[in-house]
Amino acid sequence: MIQDVLRNGSAAAHQQLEKIVVTRLKAIKSKEDYAALLKYFYAFFSRLEEVIAPYMNEDILPDKAQRRNSGFLANDMVSLGQTVTEISVPDVPEITNVYQALGAFYVMEGSIMGGSIIVQMLAKLGITDGVSFFSGYGPETGSIWGRFIEVLNKTVPVSEQYQVVETATDTFHCFALSFDDK
Ligand code: HEM
Repeated sequence: MIQDVLRNGSAAAHQQLEKIVVTRLKAIKSKEDYAALLKYFYAFFSRLEEVIAPYMNEDILPDKAQRRNSGFLANDMVSLGQTVTEISVPDVPEITNVYQALGAFYVMEGSIMGGSIIVQMLAKLGITDGVSFFSGYGPETGSIWGRFIEVLNKTVPVSEQYQVVETATDTFHCFALSFDDK
């Protein structure tokens, strides 16, 4: 199962990123602080979407248009009274084929898994606005994630799994590094 290979192969990189995000979440004192954290997510996800786009169409992922994307982050920032301008462009992995695109997409979609924990942490800080991105797909989250895993299984032959895992790991690393810029 590619999901097990991916989860195990990228677990350390996930943990490293999770630590950075949790530290940032714990430091939040206001809506402005939360919006500042969203900026990092927006900068990284919107850039990653650009490099993935040439290799990820509806033939590969039929429900692509229904999935959440960086537009949700932009809306969340606007609902917190922030603009999406003045964002520096972070480094992202080089994507040159569909297997690498799926590895990067796995990281973006999987961020929903920690999303409910993030929403709970924010609620404890009194922040309940601008959480559409982290809220995922509500009660449908499990089934929509399952559909993505089915696409992975269908699209990626065993001989190409290493490319998916390498890019997923690289994506976690690049995202973690993007928090160092300021
Ligand atoms: C506060 C920060 C985070 C926490 C507490 C967290 C927590 C979790 C948890 C508990 C799971 C397992 C869910 C399950 O198996 O049902 C998970 C899975 C995952 N998370 Fe995170 N996460 C965080 C941040 C992120 C971020 C920022 C990303 C990506 C940008 C991410 C990507 C993933 C992926 C890809 C999976 C799927 C693993 C798999 O089952 O294949 N996480 N996370």
